[in-house]
Amino acid sequence: MKLLVTGGAGFIGSTYVRRRLAERPADRIVVLDKLTYAGRRENLEGAAADRLELVEGDVADRGAVAAAISGCDAVVNFAAESHVDRSIEDPGAFIQTDVYGTFVLLEAARRAGIRHLQISTDEVYGSIAEGSFTEASPIEPSSPYSASKAGGDLLVGAYQRTYGADALIVRASNNYGPRQHPEKLIPLCILNALAGDSLPVYGDGMQVRNWLFTEDFAAAIDVVLEAGEAGAVYNVGGPEELPNIEVIERILELTGRDASLIEHVSDRLGHDRRYSLASERTESLGWSAEVGFEQGIARTVAWYRENEDWWGPIRSGEYREYYARQYGRELGGSEAKA
Ligand code: NAD
Ligand code: DAU
Repeated sequence: MKLLVTGGAGFIGSTYVRRRLAERPADRIVVLDKLTYAGRRENLEGAAADRLELVEGDVADRGAVAAAISGCDAVVNFAAESHVDRSIEDPGAFIQTDVYGTFVLLEAARRAGIRHLQISTDEVYGSIAEGSFTEASPIEPSSPYSASKAGGDLLVGAYQRTYGADALIVRASNNYGPRQHPEKLIPLCILNALAGDSLPVYGDGMQVRNWLFTEDFAAAIDVVLEAGEAGAVYNVGGPEELPNIEVIERILELTGRDASLIEHVSDRLGHDRRYSLASERTESLGWSAEVGFEQGIARTVAWYRENEDWWGPIRSGEYREYYARQYGRELGGSEAKA
């Protein structure tokens, strides 16, 4: 197959591309990526270069999409603005990419008569106090990010029902693993802990997330791409649910730091208290999560320890300005001590 993978230079997209090219020696992939602050060519280094083409372009640009989709057999759409806190600060780019960009891709895939797999999130369901969301749960997004992802999902359903498009959705819980941007909780805390800098905990830190190792999510995406039904939604949840504070305490242990680095800061506006996904539909296709949190977080901490070449440039660029705006102080600490 030849796939169009949008947002393939980001965290999950690049994990997916690397895995797919390694597992399917006859496949080719075109990555269409705007290379925003979150997208990096380096994320695709080491992937089979002879079967991979990286095109810098915007999913909201019809011409760029028309050129990239030519000759492809399916689209996997990872392209998105993905960080909740940035969506609270400035929602516009989220609407443009996550809603309008999804529309442009759906239209191009429909015209080409090929499958469109939309990579979506548990956040579209909102917060759940007890039990788990199924694919039939109502959509009640809380943040501009999750509302824009819900808008994309609604378009996918509309394209399938109205035009009979071969379009479907996977909704995943919180991913973690190598190459995740340091704005997200786990890499932020690993890198701050390594530098001896404080770890900002929103509110009481008792918000629960359903952690999924990104290689496990990449495997689920292929299962759904191959065997999923058009028009259906497939939830992909991680094997463990943990309050943020427990995640942070484990990171402190793995980095040899103690609780004196924990700093409770103002809570996120509209902060969802708990996410939990029921993944039986995806499991019925033959997928299951293989990496438990203990193994996954140890692998993740080890990767960040060993890959300062990857994160060093991020921590010295645009991220510093974002960090100062978001946390009201400079990104501090000295060089990594580990
Ligand atoms: P990311 O921010 O690391 O990567 C997003 C990628 O999309 C980047 O490479 C960026 O350059 C690219 N991009 C942004 N706007 C674009 C545009 N207009 N045109 C083309 N490319 C564009 O995000 P991620 O964490 O890898 O998430 C990937 C997808 O998975 C997103 O759709 C996100 O909503 C979804 N998702 C993420 C998680 C998670 O925990 N990270 C969980 C569930 C679903
Ligand atoms: O649930 C899936 C979603 O997971 C994806 O759709 C999003 O793209 C992805 O960013 C992620 O969203 P979250 O908001 O859950 O992830 P984040 O890493 O930003 O935050 C995880 C939890 O940690 C959340 O409860 C907020 C909290 N947090 C986060 C940061 C950045 C803190 O307490 N302090 C922080 O500094």
